[in-house]
Amino acid sequence: MERPADVAPPASVTVFVCEACGAEQGGVMSGTKLLNALQERNTDHSSGITVTGVDCLAVCERPVTVAFAAEGKWTYVIGDVDPDRDADDVLTAAGAVVASPYGVPEMADRPTFFRRGVVSRTPPPGWEMPT
Ligand code: FES
Repeated sequence: MERPADVAPPASVTVFVCEACGAEQGGVMSGTKLLNALQERNTDHSSGITVTGVDCLAVCERPVTVAFAAEGKWTYVIGDVDPDRDADDVLTAAGAVVASPYGVPEMADRPTFFRRGVVSRTPPPGWEMPT
């Protein structure tokens, strides 16, 4: 994957998690359960990974929905994330996004939830197709 020649994007990513997704279990929505699991695990402050809850990512029929977004990188929206199964893999994928210069992890670096759940990807502003 190529991008216009300029300053390399920062080695960071924000994982947005829809807190409103899914069914309520014990008074907690599935999305909130995933958000809590990610925040509990994301303790390495040098990782460049930030986890943030949002109200809705408009992919309500595929709970839980998350998005990986970073300045200068492609944004991926991913559905069908299971809070009981995928929390560790979400952070693994976030690390792969951080390591990728354009936010497009190699297929081998994409956990199963990522490979199966992609809803969309969007280039960063200013992106130009390589000529
Ligand atoms: S309720 Fe989660 S994407 Fe809309």
